[in-house]
Amino acid sequence: MERSSELSSWLPWAAAALAVSLLYLLAVGWRRRSTAAAGCRRRLPPGPPSLPLIGNLLSLRGVFFHHTLASLARRHGPVMMLKLGLTTTVVVVSSRDAASEAFTKHDRRLAARPVPDALRAVGFSDRSMIFLVSSDERWKAMRFIHATHVLSPGGLAAARAVRERKVRDIVDYLRRRAGTEVDVGHTVYGGMLNVLSGAFFSADVFDMGGEPVRGGLPELLHEIVEVVTKPNVSDLVPLLRRLDLQGMRRATARRFERVFHILDGIIDRRSADDKVKHGDYLDSLLGLVSTGKISRDTVTIMLFEVFAAGSDMMTVSVVWAMAELLRNPAAMAKVRAEMEHVLGGKEEDIDEDDAARLPYLEAAWRESMRLHPVGPLLLPHLAAEDGVVIGGYAVPRGSTVLFNACRTVGIGNTAARVRVAAAQRACRPRSWTWPRGS
Ligand code: HEM
Repeated sequence: MERSSELSSWLPWAAAALAVSLLYLLAVGWRRRSTAAAGCRRRLPPGPPSLPLIGNLLSLRGVFFHHTLASLARRHGPVMMLKLGLTTTVVVVSSRDAASEAFTKHDRRLAARPVPDALRAVGFSDRSMIFLVSSDERWKAMRFIHATHVLSPGGLAAARAVRERKVRDIVDYLRRRAGTEVDVGHTVYGGMLNVLSGAFFSADVFDMGGEPVRGGLPELLHEIVEVVTKPNVSDLVPLLRRLDLQGMRRATARRFERVFHILDGIIDRRSADDKVKHGDYLDSLLGLVSTGKISRDTVTIMLFEVFAAGSDMMTVSVVWAMAELLRNPAAMAKVRAEMEHVLGGKEEDIDEDDAARLPYLEAAWRESMRLHPVGPLLLPHLAAEDGVVIGGYAVPRGSTVLFNACRTVGIGNTAARVRVAAAQRACRPRSWTWPRGS
C-alpha cells in the first residue's frame, strides 16, 4: 500500500520528465531537419559538436574567453559556429579577411547588438543607442548626433581645452603625491570620468584626492559595468529570463534608477538656467531637445552611455600601459628619455599636440593595447536579417556575431602600424615584444 502510494506520487513527475525529454528530442530533431534542409541551400559555418541543452558551453572553459575561442578557431576555421545554452547561436569571426568582409559587405545587417538581460532593466535597452535595432529612427538620430556633435573633428576640437585641463588635474594630483603610494587605477578612473563629465556638462563628478562618495556616479557606473560583464543564465536559457535567477536585472535596475536620477538632476539644473551658455555637449543636446529633434529622455541615456562606454575602456588601457612599463624597465627608461628630450622644461603647458612628438610613447601604448585589448571580442553584434554570408558561410538570422580582435587586428588603415604577425600573438600574450627601437 505504502509502495503504491509512493509510486503514484512519483508517477506525475516521471510522466512530466518523459514529456519534457520527448518534446526536447522532437524539437532538436525538427531543428536538425530544418537546418539540414536549409543547409542544402546555404552552407552553415563549421564548429565543434554541441551537446543537448548546454550546446558548446563545456568547450568554452578557460581563463580568457577570447583565448579559448582563438584555439577553437585554429581547429574549426576563421568563421565558426557555436551553440551557447539552449537557443543562442554564435558565429565567431577570427580572421582579418573574414572580419573585413563582414564589416564592408554586411555592416548594416550586423549593426544591431544582442541585448544582455541585465540591460533590459527599467526599459534601458529599448532606449539605448547601443542596443536599439538599426532600423529604429531613434537609433539613427542618436548615432547621427554622436557622429556630428560628440566624435566629429569639430566636436573633439571644441572639447580639447577641457581635456587638457582635466589631464593636468591628474598630473598635478600625482605630482603632489610623489614618493607616496598611489592607486593608479582609482586616480585614472576618476580623472577619465572628469574628462568626460567636463566635456559633456562642464562639471567634475570625481573629487581627485577626496574620499570616494558611496553611491556616487563613479561607483554606480563601475558597479553596472561589473554586473553586466558577468555571465548570466538568463542569456543562455531565455525561458528562465522572467525569473532573473541571479538577480542581475534587479541589480542593474536599482543602479540605473540612481544613475538616471543623478544625471536628470544635472540636466534639470542646466535647463532651468538656459541663459548661460557653457559651449559643452549638454548645451548642444538641449538645443536639439528644444527643436524637437530628440526627447529629454534621450539626453539622459546618451550621457549615461558615453560615460559607461568610455570611462572603463580608457582606464583599463592606461593602467595596463603603466603596468607594462613598470615591469619593463628598459622600455620605461626609453619613454622617460624621450619625454625629457621632447618636453624638457615644458612642465606646465604640455598639450595634445605634444603627443604627436612622442613616437616611442605611442608605440609603447599600442603595444600595451595589443597585449591587453580591453575589448578583445568588441561588443557582440547581432545578425538582424538573413543574407549575411562571411567566408562563404551563411550566418543564420538571430545569431550573435563575435569578432575575435586578437585574430583580426590590421583591418583598415588605423591599425596599419600594428604588424599582423605580432598582433596574432596577442592570443597568447606572454611578454613585451615590441617596440625595441628608440
Ligand atoms: C582607450 C579607449 C577606448 C577603447 C579601447 C574603446 C574600445 C571600444 C570597442 C572595442 C568597442 C566595440 C566596437 C564594436 O563592437 O564594433 C567600443 C564601443 C563603443 N565605445 Fe569605445 N573605446 C574607448 C574609448 C571610448 C570613449 C572615450 C567613448 C566615449 C566618449 C567610447 C564610446 C563607445 C561607444 C558609445 C561604443 C558603442 C558603439 C556602438 O554600439 O556602435 N569609447 N569601444
